[in-house]
Amino acid sequence: MVCACFGASSTKKEIRPSYISSEIDGYPLADVRPFSDKELRLATDNYHLSNKIGRGGFGTVYKGTLKDGRRVAVKTLSVGSKQGVREFLTEIKTLSTVKHPNLVKLIGFCIQAPNRALVYQYMENGSIYSALLGTKKTNIKLDWQKRSAICLDTAKGLAYLHEELVPHIVHRDIKASNVLLDRDFKPKIGDFGLAKLFPDDITHISTRIAGTSGYLAPEYALGGQLTKKADVFSFGVLILEIISGTSSARTNRTGSHKLFLEWAWELYEEGKLLELVDPDMKEYPEKEVTRYMKVALFCTQSAASRRPLMTQVVDMLSKEIQLNEKELTAPGFFMDAIQFSQKKSYPDSSISQIRDGHVSITMVNPR
Ligand SMILES: Nc1ncnc2c1ncn2[C@@H]1O[C@H](COP(=O)(O)OP(=O)(O)OP(=O)(O)O)[C@@H](O)[C@H]1O
Ligand SMILES: [Mg+2]
Repeated sequence: MVCACFGASSTKKEIRPSYISSEIDGYPLADVRPFSDKELRLATDNYHLSNKIGRGGFGTVYKGTLKDGRRVAVKTLSVGSKQGVREFLTEIKTLSTVKHPNLVKLIGFCIQAPNRALVYQYMENGSIYSALLGTKKTNIKLDWQKRSAICLDTAKGLAYLHEELVPHIVHRDIKASNVLLDRDFKPKIGDFGLAKLFPDDITHISTRIAGTSGYLAPEYALGGQLTKKADVFSFGVLILEIISGTSSARTNRTGSHKLFLEWAWELYEEGKLLELVDPDMKEYPEKEVTRYMKVALFCTQSAASRRPLMTQVVDMLSKEIQLNEKELTAPGFFMDAIQFSQKKSYPDSSISQIRDGHVSITMVNPR
């Protein structure tokens, strides 16, 4: 029932457009329910700064506690969207049916002014980024057993979005801060389907293209093809980050100005892939870790058509399949303006670049 959700404790009769109740009532919303602005303010102590977890492209995330004691993450959506309530609810309905052990659960939403918000299950161990890659070194030690399980389970979540769900969802934003860790360090992918809540908003994506990401497939950075294979590329970068404990956005551990994937590919060609492994990981099975890194390189190949599907990635990670390395080709990636200017002062680079406005598309030259 909708009535319970808008100012339930208020004696004043709320005036709300009739379509909200009829639309919501018509939906089999499963466990996803509407929240009032008041309920969310109560849960987050009026969006108190001490409850702020972080800020992303769509808005700010706060931790909160619901009346029934459940911990939640409230994502306030500050990005302007011309999308109407009806369309917003249609997307929420779609998202409410998306369920998998490796996807963050959507608990509810708020459509009251001033901001729309999404309410998710709270993930106690933050994200892969905060656990492994951030500057604030946490004392979490992730051994190979945990890291490999994180890679494999994340692959399963993505395979579900790509290949089981009808219609399928291309995530568009696979990266370390969007893979969250529960109290047992089981990974769950967050922010899937978000793009569809902002059909008229390109700021989020265009900011990333102009700016920062080491996760963007070259064909996506060019502004064109957004397919499952762009997610596969990002997932490959993520595996390498998890194994190396290094963010793709930062200079690699050797202090050189090589781009992350360039560094990884060079080590592969020299037969020294294990040099990429996080020094914090003291013991690990070399053969298996090497296989994971090679799978990552299959995912980041320059040509989208050469990258595997996510179900194939799950197989490649979980079974001791002999990888056909003769088929493996060099990665492709793009540099942002800062990386590009740093690169220019390092003429020893084995990279050739095509400048296209603000975006530099880069291919590693095969030797
Ligand atoms: N359900 C959740 N539980 C715990 N932390 C979360 C949850 N959802 C998001 N976070 C964390 O909150 C912070 C902000 O998330 P947000 O999604 O807004 O930004 P982002 O992931 O950095 O970028 P993007 O907008 O591209 O997704 C991130 O550190 C993210 O890991
Ligand atoms: Mg996010």
